[in-house]
Amino acid sequence: MELKEKIKKLKDEMNAIILAHNYQRKDVQEIADFKGDSLELARKAKNVDADYIVFAGVDFMAETAAIINPDKTVLIPSKAATCEMAKFLTGERVREYKKRYPEAAVVLYVNSTAEAKAEADITCTSANAVKVVESLPNEVILFGPDANLASHVQEHTDKKIIPLPPEGHCYVHTSFDVDSIPRDGKILVHPECPPEIRKIGDAVASTGGMVKYVKNSNEKRFVIVTERDMVSRLQLDFPDKEFVPAWENAICLGMKHVTLENIYRSLKEKKYVVKVDPDIAERAKRAIERMLEVS
Ligand code: 13P
Ligand code: SF4
Repeated sequence: MELKEKIKKLKDEMNAIILAHNYQRKDVQEIADFKGDSLELARKAKNVDADYIVFAGVDFMAETAAIINPDKTVLIPSKAATCEMAKFLTGERVREYKKRYPEAAVVLYVNSTAEAKAEADITCTSANAVKVVESLPNEVILFGPDANLASHVQEHTDKKIIPLPPEGHCYVHTSFDVDSIPRDGKILVHPECPPEIRKIGDAVASTGGMVKYVKNSNEKRFVIVTERDMVSRLQLDFPDKEFVPAWENAICLGMKHVTLENIYRSLKEKKYVVKVDPDIAERAKRAIERMLEVS
């Protein structure tokens, strides 16, 4: 039996569901029950009716699913599927900043560890960051760990946004060279890109926002300024349109650690179960649920 069929059979027998982020390999996206951006996946994880959630994405996404779903078993197929940006911020660093800015609210991008989220007032994703910040009564906001997303939010609010830490970034989204980006199509840019790249975008959007933009557009050709496999997602959904990756080597290595082979092993051996310390999970859950209420 082909691997894809074996996965489907096992998944059905176990009452499992596969959730995949838009940066997953094309063959992984093809077998997913649901594909989406971080916010869409968090919402879906909260509402699924399954005993097992196999998370085809990186660690913080699987942790978020486990935190909001304590009665379900969340599996991540590879322990190497990690997000480099999340590593910029420890819980300790958030506590230090809170002492320095006692009047500020702490808004953490979901691309952060559970330990850091436990220190946050609320989380956000690239799809709802401005809305989340605007929902708060505080005029000063500590925002981390992405300083580029923080600067994007600053461009859309009168509140004072303090990046936490100032050096936080994603190596994939800071790897584009503005002069090498093709200009022959509508340019869609992820907000994790630096300001000079965002400036050339016809739209600045989360990966889910890019899917919606393409759906509502009559244009035929799009230049995609984010992780390379976003093009796979768009090609699967819109086979009659053309998508050009801004740079072929914009690859998130953490995302590529998930494969059909390890998804099959993950189901068969029920590993790796995502576990979060219960005290941290309880505090992080408040921040995540507050975000889900706002957006
Ligand atoms: P999205 O929520 O837009 O899918 O972004 C997640 C991410 O990790 C971007 O690098
Ligand atoms: Fe993290 Fe960047 Fe990969 Fe997104 S693309 S998961 S921010 S390392």
